[in-house]
Amino acid sequence: MTRKKVKRIGILTSGGDAPGMNPCIRAVVRTALKEGLSVVGIKHGYEGLVSGEMEEMHWRSVSNIIKDGGTVLGTGRSRDFLTERGQRRAWENLKKANVDALVVMGGDGTFRGAYEFGERFGVKIVGIPATIDNDVAGTDYTIGFDTAVNTALEAIDRIRDTATSFERIFYVEVMGRLSGYIALYSALAGGAEEVLIPETRTDIKKLTELILNSLKAGKRSILIIVAEGDDIGGAFEIARKVRLKVDADYRVCVLGHIQRGGSPTAADRILATKLGYYAVQAVKEGRFGVAVGEVKGKIVYTPFAKLLKQTKALDPFLQHLVETLGA
Ligand code: F6P
Repeated sequence: MTRKKVKRIGILTSGGDAPGMNPCIRAVVRTALKEGLSVVGIKHGYEGLVSGEMEEMHWRSVSNIIKDGGTVLGTGRSRDFLTERGQRRAWENLKKANVDALVVMGGDGTFRGAYEFGERFGVKIVGIPATIDNDVAGTDYTIGFDTAVNTALEAIDRIRDTATSFERIFYVEVMGRLSGYIALYSALAGGAEEVLIPETRTDIKKLTELILNSLKAGKRSILIIVAEGDDIGGAFEIARKVRLKVDADYRVCVLGHIQRGGSPTAADRILATKLGYYAVQAVKEGRFGVAVGEVKGKIVYTPFAKLLKQTKALDPFLQHLVETLGA
């Protein structure tokens, strides 16, 4: 498989779906067709590779999907693909379908699978970072992050209205099991009083003091944004702990999967379109085992092996800003 000229590519979306995957599929399919490559869409992430569920993609297969959330290819977290046996079946299915190279879209887990598969079977793979969590190195932003933050922000703004009217404390839980990006950006943009994220240790005593001081200062509402993966637990657990020391009315709101759906923002559509286009350029130039990303406005290709060793650090200054300006 390694030396053959690429004539046909496969594309799949894997892991948590992210708004912007569809515009990216559109960009990959149409760029590839323009470059004279044929394209096969693989269904349900790596699962479709293992089971051989694939369909030919044409120019019209991606008509009008630019505005749609989710992924028309479907996604999944395949257990079979984690095994050598599963990967062998995937490799055989690729050969059967005459697919010479793969474009995979997803987060760290997707790239780990791609790296192993590429190393084990010599498959040519290019990755595109797409996850609402923004926790993938090799790119400033992942596809889907901007939409998720804006969705969370809209909810936070609405909660502020009712919180102020009732003079209540609200704990708003946003997504991010391992990453505080959505929490930090939506807290900063929403003017929250505090943000709690997995990357930093949560100090209940400090939080309690902040809330008591805010109440004393006559604040009419207090919004605490909590990433679901915070070290103390989710928003319910934090609220329960604070309530032991703060005698004030509160509510908890868990935003959950609402943040994964919806029409992608313009920023996500544009990023998705660029990364989709450049993923196909990587295929044409014979760059494999890499993920495409955008860093400081420039397109970069980072080898999976390098990228998977890196963690994308959050800017501590942003957390400082939330704390300085919020409470
Ligand atoms: O896609 C990332 C993510 O949304 C995380 O923020 C969240 O922790 C996880 O996926 C939820 O996964 P699932 O949809 O399998 O519950």
